[in-house]
Amino acid sequence: MPDSHSLLILPGDGIGPEVMAEVRKVIGWFEDNRGLSFAVEQGLVGGCAYDAHGTPLTDETMARAQAVDAVLLGAVGGPAYDDLDFSVKPERGLLRLRKEMDLFANLRPAQCFDALADFSSLKREVVAGLDILIVRELTSGVYFGEPRGIHADDNNPDNEGGRVGVNTQRYTSGEIRRVARAAFDLAKKRSGRLCSMEKANVMESGVLWREEVQWVHDNEYPEVELTHMYADNGAMQLVRNPRQFDVIVTDNLFGDLLSDAAAMLTGSLGMLPSASLGAPMANGRPKALYEPVHGSAPDIAGQGKANPIACILSFAMCLRYSFDKGAEADMLEAAVEKVLAEGVRTADLLGPKGGTPVSTAEMGDRIIAALSA
Ligand code: IPM
Ligand code: MG
Repeated sequence: MPDSHSLLILPGDGIGPEVMAEVRKVIGWFEDNRGLSFAVEQGLVGGCAYDAHGTPLTDETMARAQAVDAVLLGAVGGPAYDDLDFSVKPERGLLRLRKEMDLFANLRPAQCFDALADFSSLKREVVAGLDILIVRELTSGVYFGEPRGIHADDNNPDNEGGRVGVNTQRYTSGEIRRVARAAFDLAKKRSGRLCSMEKANVMESGVLWREEVQWVHDNEYPEVELTHMYADNGAMQLVRNPRQFDVIVTDNLFGDLLSDAAAMLTGSLGMLPSASLGAPMANGRPKALYEPVHGSAPDIAGQGKANPIACILSFAMCLRYSFDKGAEADMLEAAVEKVLAEGVRTADLLGPKGGTPVSTAEMGDRIIAALSA
């Protein structure tokens, strides 16, 4: 294995740059204290790239993303770009990265840190100790299916307004099997249980999803306990009794919804990291992009209020999945847990009892101090 660690950092919009600045501190700490070295380059994605270049992702940045070991992304989007054409919206930059890097497996862990169990909108006894992993298919489904668009509904005189909006939910068996394998592999390393979610009761793509996941199970992973659930029931079960799950595998759109719901179980959307992984590259490492699940939060951008933990934990996932540095990832996660246990809170983590929040930078500094302790 080569020991170079090349990173492309794309802070993006809104709170992206603020939270990514704290990740840079953490990267620096690992260089200074753990003998790791990272070749870091930085670029633009999203609205800031549109402002500079008229596109949310330039071909040059796309090429850099393909060339490095891992991409770290902050967040994209903001109200200033709401009226842009779909083709140049900030989100298109992120979707292009996912699609062209073929990052089909999106890992979204939702873990409830003990110190935060009281800040969840659910009761402590429902969420304490929660540790689940949602594996979301990320490069297909209704996000990318053709045909798509808004056009005149020419042959339908009864349609008031005269237009039709179309998106297509489309999955091939191969797309389902490869993300299922990623989920089964992860389930094997955890509790050995996998729950697959779709809407096989109303959608043909859901029927195929269920059949293919079952096929991969029966032929390749008979030792993993597989269950199937309709995604609407899955949403309900996630807020009713989330600890019944370990690993969940689902499609792109359901995964988007279910992972936001799962995020809230943990106390704050500001806590959730993610890894988007593709096939192995020539050096054996998977194509990879790491990003917090939260968005650009324009309402608090630039005020030092954002919680950098999701972005920092995304870097921990990078250490683990791209660089095989499990011990360092554990260290970083333990440092976050320690700081939370000490009661250090950004504003999003204060809960009903209130208190004095720390700034984004102070939270980063406290995590660095905990690493050094
Ligand atoms: C996410 C986000 C994105 C998505 C947006 C920003 C395109 O909500 O990563 O969950 O819908 O996939
Ligand atoms: Mg989302």
